[in-house]
Order: sequence, then structure tokens, then C-alpha cells
Amino acid sequence: MTAPTPLIAGNWKMNGLSASLAEAEAIARGVGDCPGRVAICPPAVLTHQMAEALSGTRVLVGGQDAHWDDFGAFTGDISAEMLADVGAKLVILGHSERREGYRETDEIVAKKAQAALRAGLEPIVCVGETLAQRKAGEALAVVTGQVRGSLPPELAGQAFSVAYEPVWAIGTGLTPTTPEIEEVHRAIRATLVEMFGEAGRAPPILYGGSVKPGNAAEILHADEVGGALVGGASLKAADFLAIVQAL
Ligand code: PGA
Repeated sequence: MTAPTPLIAGNWKMNGLSASLAEAEAIARGVGDCPGRVAICPPAVLTHQMAEALSGTRVLVGGQDAHWDDFGAFTGDISAEMLADVGAKLVILGHSERREGYRETDEIVAKKAQAALRAGLEPIVCVGETLAQRKAGEALAVVTGQVRGSLPPELAGQAFSVAYEPVWAIGTGLTPTTPEIEEVHRAIRATLVEMFGEAGRAPPILYGGSVKPGNAAEILHADEVGGALVGGASLKAADFLAIVQAL
């Protein structure tokens, strides 16, 4: 089987106003012929405008979260179908900021992934250990457990990716060593193959957590790293493009 097509996705989190669309347009102008796919996941309210601004470019637009139900009395929430309706193609699910801040469990993330598939969105499912778990030698067990619990069987044969984001590396400037990243990514791949058979070799496994222009090339060329989920450095076109160009 050929290697998964890499994906570099920018996670803008709760950053960006309509004026930031110019940054997204600059990213689209600069991606050139990079060998992977590129996506930006803006705050939900910018999805529609960004999808329109980037239509006809190589840059896809994604959501940062979506509800597990298709519609209903969930004040403040957004369904996967709503994101798809305004032009999103992917959606980040189970980010640690949602797992920790909103008590999202593996079971909830799996239900969200099912909802994303129903809406035709490609899920980017996030997993990652805390610093305490890493120090206790539990990183591999935690991460592979999250992969087993957060990926529903319906993902078999569908387009999706897994993002390994050590909680302690997000927004901190700290990153695991390359061998540490490779160890976890290989364990995720083995788990995907165990769950989905040969189809488990297709999804790219992204690394996320303090990816910057200065460390992108080394991380992106590590074994079983199929792209990156980029937070802070995706907010500035020049930084994000430098990461894309490191592919
Ligand atoms: P960071 O965030 O690149 O700012 O560390 C990554 C993420 O949370 O997806």
C-alpha cells in the first residue's frame, strides 16, 4: 500500500475575526505544489466566509468540533451537517482542550466521529497523554487506548486521520524527541491495523504540539508522521507556509 497522503491542518482555536480571512488567503496563495493536503480550521463563525474565500484554491476548510447529534435542543452547539453545509470538508474531534475542558470521553468522541461521517466530513481525531501519564510510563497505553475508544467501526475504509498531540506539548514550546514521536506513531499505526486491517495503513497520523517552522522538517520526516496539526503557528501565513513547505 502506498504511503498515506500527508495533511497539514491549522487549528485556529478561538482566534480570528473576519479580518483574519486575509491571512487564510495569503496561505492559499503560498501553498504552491506542496506534496500534501492543507487545511485551516477557523472558529465556526468564520467557516462560511473562509470556505468562500478559499474556494478554487488547494486549501480546505475544517471545523474544530461538532456535536454527536444531527440537530436538536443543544444550545450553543453546532452539528457536523451545519459545518458541511457552509463548506467545511474536515473536522477536528476530541482535541485535548475539549477532552479536558468539556469532559469529552472517548465514547463521546466516537459518537462525534459517527456524526461527522453522516455529514460527509473527514474526522481528524486527536489523542495524547498528559505529562503525568508520560512520566508514569503510560504514554503508549493511554494513546492506544484513546485510539481504540475514540474511533468507531464505521471509520473502516473511510477517509480520516489521527492526530497525536501530547497534552504537555500543546502551546508550551516543548516537543517530544523524534524517537519518542516515532514510538507513539508506530504504536498508533499498529492499533489502526489491528482495528481496521490493511485499511488501517491508509490514514495519515499527524503530530501536533508546538510545531514551528524551526522543528517542522525533522518532525514531518519522522517515521509514520503523516503531517501536522498546528495551533499557534497556523495563525500567521508566513509561519504556517514555512511548515507546509517543510513537507
Ligand atoms: P500548538 O497547538 O501548535 O499551539 O501547540 C496545537 C494544537 O493544539 O492543535
